[in-house]
Amino acid sequence: MPNNPQQNHSVGLPTELPEPTPEAREHSNCLIESIRAELTQSGGRMPFDRFMELALYAPGLGYYSAGARKFGEAGDFVTAPEISSLFARCLARQCRELLAELAGGDLLEVGAGTGVLAADLLLELEALQMLPERYFILELSPDLQQRQHETLALRAAHLMDRVQWLDAMPEPGFSGVVVANELLDAMPVSCFTVAESGVQEGFVRWSGEGFERYWDEPVTPGLMQAVAALQAALGPFAVGYESELNLRADSWLRSLAQRVERGALLLIDYGYPAAEYYHPQRSMGTLMCHYRHRAHDAPLILPGLQDITAHVDFSSIARAGRDAGLELKGYTTQAHFLLGCGLDSLLMESDPNEIESHITLMQAVKRLTMPTEMGERFKVIALGKGIESPLMGFSLRDLSGRL
Ligand SMILES: C[S@@+](CC[C@H](N)C(=O)[O-])C[C@H]1O[C@@H](n2cnc3c(N)ncnc32)[C@H](O)[C@@H]1O
Repeated sequence: MPNNPQQNHSVGLPTELPEPTPEAREHSNCLIESIRAELTQSGGRMPFDRFMELALYAPGLGYYSAGARKFGEAGDFVTAPEISSLFARCLARQCRELLAELAGGDLLEVGAGTGVLAADLLLELEALQMLPERYFILELSPDLQQRQHETLALRAAHLMDRVQWLDAMPEPGFSGVVVANELLDAMPVSCFTVAESGVQEGFVRWSGEGFERYWDEPVTPGLMQAVAALQAALGPFAVGYESELNLRADSWLRSLAQRVERGALLLIDYGYPAAEYYHPQRSMGTLMCHYRHRAHDAPLILPGLQDITAHVDFSSIARAGRDAGLELKGYTTQAHFLLGCGLDSLLMESDPNEIESHITLMQAVKRLTMPTEMGERFKVIALGKGIESPLMGFSLRDLSGRL
């Protein structure tokens, strides 16, 4: 039976968060009712990863599935492609190199957000004379698919005939490049803690006033084994240690790898190698929420109105890739990747006499590359099949040995 109630996140807002509008509250209340209905059906509780899945992706109600603004200054967070097209222009150079080795092919973007990366990548690849035959987008959210359509129609209308939205993984035989920026951090994660009695899993239940998390015997397949493997590799966790595991990334990678005949996956996200992720000092895990540019750690409040994320354990991504038949082609920081792809030469092309655009560009470079901004927190991992040449994005610094 449930035990160890933890903090009740649902009643009031942490004082620093802005109050949602009445319409937003109403929206969130609908999602709360829907989650409560599922709780009732499943004996009063659900593992945390299911709560996160519903909060983010419940059809028509979840944070990503419904119409909230999300991206950009007016939303909850800003991603690298939204900061500047420099990000896409560098990535395009890496894609060009890969498509050249493959003598052509397709591009697949998974989790395309507003579609801005798709538009900028296509435009840059056109300028580089290396357009993919088709640009596939695999996106869970119908609302975001609509936005991607609008963005592409506005910014790259003449290339729209190459763009195809997929409902599922591509057909087997895919040859080309798969790109996903900030996809892995948006996958539902399972929570665990170490109690005197052993490993426990995080569950969510309704307290009478709101959702609350508590710990109990694990039920999620693979959780016990994954924690045991971490402890075998890194040493035992102290009693009270809490963290998360993305147990869904393995099957996602496996299923994608099965479709790739030849090509590379470029996955960009914030995260660490396992030894850093599960460092004894990171004893409360990495779960984080974003609501109107405020970051906080209360995932059970405001369901449907806020983003919930966890950092990425890149060691487990590399291992899952290997198990799925993909070779690790490189792992580095976002700053080194962008520089390896020629960020500095792109900057030189900008006219310093056009002061305003030059300053905007310099500010973007700072945000994308400074260690205190996105430069070191964000990493890029490349996994390949049938790719012989080294990849330019990892030419300056390859940290694969740390995984
Ligand atoms: C944090 S956003 C990043 C969006 C965009 N890549 C960017 O950098 O601005 C995560 C995106 O991944 C999508 N997503 C999450 N899980 C997915 C999955 N399994 N398959 C396809 N899309 C997914 C979300 O709907 C959303 O568009």
